[in-house]
Amino acid sequence: DTVFLNGDFLPADQACISVLDRGFMFGDGVYEVIPVYGGRLFRLEHHLDRLDHSLAGIRLENPLPHSRWQDVLEELIKRNGGGDQSLYLQVTRGPARRDHAFPPVVNPTVFAMSSPLGAPAPELRQGISAVTLEDIRWKLCNIKAIALLPNILLRQQALDQGSAEAIMTRDGEVTEGAAANVFLVRNGTIVTPPKSNLLLPGITRDLVVELCARHGLPCKERPIDEAELLDADELWVTSSTREVVPVTRLDGAPVGNGHPGPVWERMVELYQAYKEA
Ligand code: PDD
Repeated sequence: DTVFLNGDFLPADQACISVLDRGFMFGDGVYEVIPVYGGRLFRLEHHLDRLDHSLAGIRLENPLPHSRWQDVLEELIKRNGGGDQSLYLQVTRGPARRDHAFPPVVNPTVFAMSSPLGAPAPELRQGISAVTLEDIRWKLCNIKAIALLPNILLRQQALDQGSAEAIMTRDGEVTEGAAANVFLVRNGTIVTPPKSNLLLPGITRDLVVELCARHGLPCKERPIDEAELLDADELWVTSSTREVVPVTRLDGAPVGNGHPGPVWERMVELYQAYKEA
């Protein structure tokens, strides 16, 4: 595997950062995950715009202009054999003497790597089970921060209960999954919570909303009461790595009839067609 670190391409096992890196010390950094299909970056500008927002949110300047990011990522794709990949990029506030305050001079650490991206696993198409858990995160969830302890603990709690994903609720409203956004379908209408500081503005989420508008599927961005999960016809989670996944069991009970629904089938068709266009 070839990775990118601070201007160089090198083998993953030779890429080193300081133990004093603020990403390591404090989780002081942000990241992106960008899918690559057939060697092509998917929705790159959306991801780079969100990176800009995340960096602004932690008051760190983007070390690279978008054009340079594009060159770096395209080179990384080539060096990792093209095809389908999942790119991970991370920017931290870099190495500095350990002090909570920002360092007087910042040398950000810029890192990117490629991971394999298989076609969505067939199991995912059968539907996954999820559990609802309280959203224990902070109030700046719109920042794609590398500090993911709450998400990790909630995901593991879900796995320990035999489920694949945690669906989080805060003050009685659905926010998102541990690493995905949430949609429900009720009487043919597709619903997802509006963007706010309480959830990540998912690139996949935005594309689903866009595809609904383009193809005349009724879609509303509005708060979802936790109780609405109980009589949803369909429930989905969306992310760059898993696309649109049906949730067919929630807290041990079937969602709708317990099978992936027709609206999900239609959305997957539209999503595939968009990918291939
Ligand atoms: N996570 N919400 C959270 C908390 C996430 O971590 C993610 C994605 C999403 C979906 O965003 P997008 O559609 O832009 O991938 C929503 C990535 C995939 C990860 O951490 O690996």
